[in-house]
Amino acid sequence: MTTVNIDLTDLEYRLNPWPTYEVLREQSPIHFVPEGTHDGEDFYVFSRYNDVSMALRDKNRFSNVVMRGRFDMPMMINRDAPEHTRLRRNANRAFNARLVLTLEDWVQTVIDEVIDDALAGDRVEWVDAVTYTLPLRVVGDMLGIPLDRKNDFRRWSQAIMNMFAVAAGLDPDEVPGYLEDLLEFGNYMTELAIERKGKANRGDILGALVEQQEAGNCTQDELAAMAYSFVAAGQETTMNLLGGGLHMLLTDKALGKRLTENPDLTGAFIDEYLRVYAPVQWTLRRTTEEVQLHGVTIPKGGLCHMVIGSANRDPRRFPDPDRLDLDRENKADHLGFGAGPHFCPGAALSELLSNLTFRAYYRILDRLSVDPAEPPVLRTSQGAYGLERLNLLVSH
Ligand code: HEM
Repeated sequence: MTTVNIDLTDLEYRLNPWPTYEVLREQSPIHFVPEGTHDGEDFYVFSRYNDVSMALRDKNRFSNVVMRGRFDMPMMINRDAPEHTRLRRNANRAFNARLVLTLEDWVQTVIDEVIDDALAGDRVEWVDAVTYTLPLRVVGDMLGIPLDRKNDFRRWSQAIMNMFAVAAGLDPDEVPGYLEDLLEFGNYMTELAIERKGKANRGDILGALVEQQEAGNCTQDELAAMAYSFVAAGQETTMNLLGGGLHMLLTDKALGKRLTENPDLTGAFIDEYLRVYAPVQWTLRRTTEEVQLHGVTIPKGGLCHMVIGSANRDPRRFPDPDRLDLDRENKADHLGFGAGPHFCPGAALSELLSNLTFRAYYRILDRLSVDPAEPPVLRTSQGAYGLERLNLLVSH
């Protein structure tokens, strides 16, 4: 018998899930939560590295068609082969439209501008000024969304995250208005796509998607859903990495010093950060057949929470797992970007953006400190881990 209790609405679990993960891994590696979703569906929690990694790769027994009914959008993340393969091909083409490396100079300019603005005063709330703004500028620009829609974009990206959370079991009353926001974003992307039709491809994601649509490779709804996917998957995640990473550099002085002196370790830092504080804490699958694991029988169609955040801290795979260790040999084995057919297509873009941003941070670390009057605040939304507010003092 196990005593562990998973309550998705429990704030303590959302803010500090690590002790629960440890109990799960040790006592109940496939943990059954009866009627755990808001509408009374059972679910199963996977918490060990080998099990999560296996299930993310096993597309035959673990389906991505998780969202049903009114949440059933034609998003890649909610589709299996062969539909997924087709949508994914479009996404890969879109990313190839401006090969990530050719973006470097432009991304660097955006970073410099955003950070310069943030350092203008004596105080700055870093999440709003920098970590939210950077992926917004980069992903938003690639989708053709103008900067003056910044606040709308924020609302829309939150709505997409909320849709996932509701599909995973959160009570929709906790996130009122998200369906209307989603609809508004879909309509807006449709307008942008229509404006682009027949015009020269600017070489961005939207241009490539419009081309795919005109070639008959995807429908208008799928194009809008693709834009949802990029916003949902690209915005919060990257923002959580950029905010949490800076906080860590400011509070762990030895780490900040080592990285400042050895900027080539930035890739290792990103890997380890994503391992220890995975911005996507868990994702969902449904079994396509009855699955037996660790003595538990998961019925066909069973909803499974793949807890990446726990798998990444499994001591069976990563000794001393809670420690961020730049010298860890297998740090690249983390599941922060997922695994298997749905492995994050934005990984190279977010690695480029975060690598350049962290290098920019090293140059200003000694001018920044956490404001003691306003301690950092963690986000409380489900499934995502990161900072909501990071108030800093700036010295000149
Ligand atoms: C630090 C930043 C990021 C993290 C930690 C991250 C994490 C992930 C993870 C864990 C998955 C797999 C989910 C699953 O298998 O259920 C995923 C998929 C995805 N990511 Fe990312 N992501 C990041 C940045 C981005 C960016 C910048 C974009 C695009 C602009 C993006 C687009 C996507 C899309 C479209 C998918 C779905 C792929 C599919 O279903 O085939 N991500 N991401």
